Amino acid sequence: MIRLENVSKVYHTAKGDLHALKEVTLDIAAGEFVAVCGPSGCGKSTLLSLIGGLAKPTAGRIEVAGQEISHLPPGPLAHFRGSHIGFVFQMFHLLPYLDVLHNVLVCAPTQVAETGARERAEQLLVQFGLQDRLTHRPGQLSAGERQRVAMARALLHEPALLLADEPTGNLDPQSAEALLDLLGDFRGAGGTILLVTHDARAGERADRVVRLRSGQLDLTDAPPQGISGS
Ligand SMILES: Nc1ncnc2c1ncn2[C@@H]1O[C@H](COP(=O)(O)OP(=O)(O)O)[C@@H](O)[C@H]1O
Ligand SMILES: [Mg+2]
Repeated sequence: MIRLENVSKVYHTAKGDLHALKEVTLDIAAGEFVAVCGPSGCGKSTLLSLIGGLAKPTAGRIEVAGQEISHLPPGPLAHFRGSHIGFVFQMFHLLPYLDVLHNVLVCAPTQVAETGARERAEQLLVQFGLQDRLTHRPGQLSAGERQRVAMARALLHEPALLLADEPTGNLDPQSAEALLDLLGDFRGAGGTILLVTHDARAGERADRVVRLRSGQLDLTDAPPQGISGS
């Protein structure tokens, strides 16, 4: 589902070049749930944004769902994202002036009635326990509820791949568990997940944990930080 070959990303900053990713090679199979861990600044979000086509690599190849995306122009790239990928972020990124239902529909085609998007949005919100929140604004919701709305928005177009960047980072333990359950359900239905996380429990749900360190894959078999104390 995802294949990275020698992918590097350099940010050109006022202070000089910053090598955020260095020759990363990684394969993720369809239906796999992979967690990406590593210290702050090691390149996790950069990796996710390259795979999601939100940024271009400086070098290397990125294939997602059989398509090499690193050279796609903006239009086809947006279309590719819209048909294959869902995103969930730590900060939810809901629109404060839209109600829950319209936040989920925000990226749906304009002819919502014809596409059945509204029906699907309502189904997802009911499935995620938000049936009594459809007309609430994000400001009237708990953090856990907001992230479930963001998750419904991410899944509206039935993506094969879900990219989640620290989605439990702002949630209490119980809401985090509820969100991880939803990720598990998506995986159970055949979806592929790439989850960036600091959360050990989130890592435990994954089929595989990939560690990043200073922009490179850490291929040593070290146990997770905090367990060995090293
Ligand atoms: N747009 C950007 N411009 C310049 N430097 C950036 C940019 N985005 C990230 N970086 C830098 O690249 C490195 C990796 O960042 P990031 O991928 O956000 O790491 P993580 O998500 O693991 O915390 C960090 O040193 C960060 O400061
Ligand atoms: Mg990050």
